[in-house]
Amino acid sequence: MTSPTGAVAPPAVEVRGLAKHYGAVVALTDVDVTIAAGEYFVLLGPSGGGKTTLLRTIGGFHRPTHGQVLLHGNDVGHLPPDKRPTAMVFQSYALFPHMNVLNNVGYGLKIAGLGKDERREKSAAALTMVGLDGYADRKPHELSGGQQQRVQLARAMVLERDILLLDEPLAALDAQLRKDMCLELKHLQHELGMTFIHVTHNQEEAMTVADRIALIADGELVEVGPAKEVYRAPRRRFTASFVGENNIFEGTVTNVEGAVVSVDVAGTNVAVDPDGQDVAVGAAVSLSIRSELVKLTTRGADIATDPGASLPATYKEAVYLGLTTSHLADIDGGGEVVSRVVEDLDEDVAQGTPVLAYWNREDLRLHTS
Ligand SMILES: Nc1ncnc2c1ncn2[C@@H]1O[C@H](COP(=O)(O)OP(=O)(O)OP(=O)(O)O)[C@@H](O)[C@H]1O
Ligand SMILES: [Mg+2]
Repeated sequence: MTSPTGAVAPPAVEVRGLAKHYGAVVALTDVDVTIAAGEYFVLLGPSGGGKTTLLRTIGGFHRPTHGQVLLHGNDVGHLPPDKRPTAMVFQSYALFPHMNVLNNVGYGLKIAGLGKDERREKSAAALTMVGLDGYADRKPHELSGGQQQRVQLARAMVLERDILLLDEPLAALDAQLRKDMCLELKHLQHELGMTFIHVTHNQEEAMTVADRIALIADGELVEVGPAKEVYRAPRRRFTASFVGENNIFEGTVTNVEGAVVSVDVAGTNVAVDPDGQDVAVGAAVSLSIRSELVKLTTRGADIATDPGASLPATYKEAVYLGLTTSHLADIDGGGEVVSRVVEDLDEDVAQGTPVLAYWNREDLRLHTS
């Protein structure tokens, strides 16, 4: 971002070489990440991966074991949470049950020493922002789950910090409400132009709200990228296994010729574009492809398939998922392949039928790690 004076504004958040140990537990190792001002950034990953630890360290609730946190270009290592430009929205509602909505929202301002009138005015404005006009006098138990969540948001927003840290903000909501709130959060963030850092282990939630997604597992940042890119073209095997529904085939490189790498998968040679990655003959690699990009046909059927882009298999079963159906087959020589389709297979295929799983070459990805 460029200011009127031509100076480039520093990123909202810069995490450099961050490590966090809890005694013998290593929660984060050497994390580097930069988040631009006004970005909706999601930390996605499995339980225990270190998401909350990273968020809380940015907010000042934990001290890093090594490394630095810079907010708007300033090292905030010595600053407590309330002196940072951050506000936190916690997983549980954490509202005071005996206080009405207005006072819940204004609580942080009271702590900061603001007078009653100013608190009232700012809190009412924050409630308007989250669409809760007219709810000021209710107690938390008189609100739905989604409304309580919005009170929490208002409580963070009233502090007028420009970086909002949200730890599993929608975890307590049912599926439909979660979807609605996802869109609301996204719109709100866009309108306010604030930086949101949102922790979740739900990939659909991540895809809905995120400008960029960072995958975190085992205390490491595995991959960072625009939401669509992480979904469509994961670079790491872990990302392919965690985002979307991907088939992952393990194999060994048998030949490398320019833009074609041959990989032996359970006795069949499969061709893949290394997409700039260095691989050597004999290397153990993984291949991934989204299940909706794989098709199944009975073997010997009159369909032209690319020999380098198919695997012989044996049909197992169909799993109906509502809108789509997943067809499962055992790959000859080991492993499983899933083909996810909206319409049914052209033919009725019985269990045990020899089939061919096939795809377009360019949809397959190679992972060296
Ligand atoms: N206060 C603590 N003391 C000791 N170990 C901790 C503490 N807090 C977290 N850990 C450990 O640090 C690791 C990372 O935990 P963290 O809470 O950051 O994970 P997470 O990605 O937020 O997981 P979840 O999705 O389950 O919330 C885990 O192994 C956890 O057990
Ligand atoms: Mg957590």
